[in-house]
Amino acid sequence: MTAVITTNVADAVSALNAGRVVAIPTETVYGLAARMDQSDAVRKVFDIKDRPHDHPLIVHDADLDRARRWARFNDAAIALARQFWPGPLTLLLPRTELVPDAVTGGRATVAIRVPAHPMALAIIDSVNYGIVAPSANKFGRVSPTTAQHVAVDLGNDIDLIVDGGACSIGVESTIVDCTTESPQILRPGYITRTQIEKALGTYADKANGESRAPGMLPSHYAPRCAVELFNDRAEAEARLRVLVEQNANARLLDRTSNLPEYARFLYADLRSADNDGVDVVVAVLPDSSDLGEAICDRLRKAAVRH
Ligand code: TXA
Ligand code: MG
Repeated sequence: MTAVITTNVADAVSALNAGRVVAIPTETVYGLAARMDQSDAVRKVFDIKDRPHDHPLIVHDADLDRARRWARFNDAAIALARQFWPGPLTLLLPRTELVPDAVTGGRATVAIRVPAHPMALAIIDSVNYGIVAPSANKFGRVSPTTAQHVAVDLGNDIDLIVDGGACSIGVESTIVDCTTESPQILRPGYITRTQIEKALGTYADKANGESRAPGMLPSHYAPRCAVELFNDRAEAEARLRVLVEQNANARLLDRTSNLPEYARFLYADLRSADNDGVDVVVAVLPDSSDLGEAICDRLRKAAVRH
């Protein structure tokens, strides 16, 4: 591994300003950051992740005023930004001409959020420019929620990882498309449908038909082990007994009694299963309401065989 793990925010700022790619903590998952005006660095972000160039990147900025340079906010977007920023909410909006094509894959829209992690905010504030940051994992793999996860995945591809501790939320931001007449949730996250509907005073649609967020592939967030899903604990335990009888290395995953913890540790739990040589994770699904929607979404994607 060549990457240095640091808590020095100033080092990250100089590296970003010099056009380098740096992994940074956010409250959701770690991001692979580059200044959005450094086109070589932006290209490197795609290359390091093995990510197709038509999967656009999320722009991160320090507050709503600064975000207005990159996107045209309508009333719904302003209401959501005022209520949930800084925080785990990404808004999809019409872009301004200041956003490079490489960031949006040439689209007319840009995804943008203000992260709530103090180190991320300090870095963005000092860089004083928009920063792109997709999750700091290889394309299609489980997102990192600690600096050590990033080091394992990308330690040979980048030279600086900012360590901001374990992410407090653990799953990626909720993405809301505000370009349609009624806002649609493209990716569920910690900010729930109920909270968004309350802030908007109207129902939010589920993305229908072909998803317009190209990263929302059915198989995403995939560990190496198989993941089997069950609606209740008793069924899961019965399946676990069968697998153990067959000499499979199987493990139960059930944090349904504490959903914030389920989300916070979900990716770390899947990574531990891989590290421990587990063949099958037998996971219990929470109710698909509130935070349970995001957890079910990520578990279902982890369960798709690849
Ligand atoms: O919590 C998060 O959002 C994390 C942290 C690091 O901020 N970032 C993250 O980025 O999850 P990423 O790139 O892994 O996921 C962003 C998703 C992708 O599925 C991408 O296709 C979609 O957002 N997206 C970005 N810009 C878009 C656009 N203009 N139109 C449609 N989808 C877009
Ligand atoms: Mg990702």
